[in-house]
Amino acid sequence: MPVNPGYVFKQLTPRDMKILRVIEKLMRKYEYVPLDIIVSRSRMVDKDVSLVFSKLNSLKLVKRYRGDYTGYRITSLGYDCLALEDLVRRNIVYALGPKLGVGKEADLYLGLSPANEKIVVKFHRVGRTSFRQVKRLRVYAEEAEVSWLLRSSISAEREFKALIECLKAQVNVPIPLGRSRHAVVMKHINGVLLLKYRNPSDPETMLRTILDSVRRAYLIVGIVHGDLSEYNVMVELGTERPILIDWPQYVEREHPSAPILLERDVKYIIGFFKRKYRVEIPVKEALKYVRGKIEEI
Ligand SMILES: Nc1ncnc2c1ncn2[C@@H]1O[C@H](COP(=O)(O)OP(=O)(O)OP(=O)(O)O)[C@@H](O)[C@H]1O
Ligand SMILES: [Mg+2]
Repeated sequence: MPVNPGYVFKQLTPRDMKILRVIEKLMRKYEYVPLDIIVSRSRMVDKDVSLVFSKLNSLKLVKRYRGDYTGYRITSLGYDCLALEDLVRRNIVYALGPKLGVGKEADLYLGLSPANEKIVVKFHRVGRTSFRQVKRLRVYAEEAEVSWLLRSSISAEREFKALIECLKAQVNVPIPLGRSRHAVVMKHINGVLLLKYRNPSDPETMLRTILDSVRRAYLIVGIVHGDLSEYNVMVELGTERPILIDWPQYVEREHPSAPILLERDVKYIIGFFKRKYRVEIPVKEALKYVRGKIEEI
């Protein structure tokens, strides 16, 4: 079973973090950062650096290369710890709890904020599946891992930005609390996926509320979710408020694929309510509404 990054993080000292940060920075330039450069940049003596490395190695936070030179790179667990340290220092995260779920392109953990509120930490892992395929070809494996880190960070940045803008435009989204590297922190939603929600008191209002959010995202923020379905909407228990989650793949309204994606998002969600609750809103009308061509449906 993969280890909980929160558990590993707690075992790290400022020296360990310092070395991780030095490697992270130099990974833009090197696939494996040469040990001598790490030593000189860390301003620590050789002996201390090797103690730190034996610890980082055994915790699987770094990976060693031994060939014409000795070098290191950080692993995804190492990257998780770097993000956590930053989030803890900035008072966004207090503790990391159990795993909430494994998505296609993310690992989600339950956590606590310094104010003792439940939070969710989403570690983006872009290209995880393709990386496994690539790994068989040893030559490309390490290269894929480096860009995996960068792409995951870009994905997290996109999601965080979308959440901030959507919140301002009163789109129903999880409340974003912070981001570091590939990790997005948001408030925990006390709810279940729309797919699993049983007996909504008013399914039609629920659908209209979702379409209102799609409309606001489109007209005010200028973006299309792009992966909307009963799997990416959560229903808050008690209020029955539908909340649109999982935004990294959004596209801007001006993007050539935006019209197709908007239509698909609307069709999927309308199709679900029709199949499950016999609520019928014509797709054409709904599309007019979300594009701002009519005021209400
Ligand atoms: N803010 C939140 N509060 C509570 N649960 C959440 C929150 N955000 C996400 N989840 C849960 O975690 C799951 C995965 O989240 P998300 O869809 O953002 O990631 P993903 O990698 O795209 O996963 P998937 O591949 O399953 O779509 C969701 O289906 C939901 O059950
Ligand atoms: Mg999802």
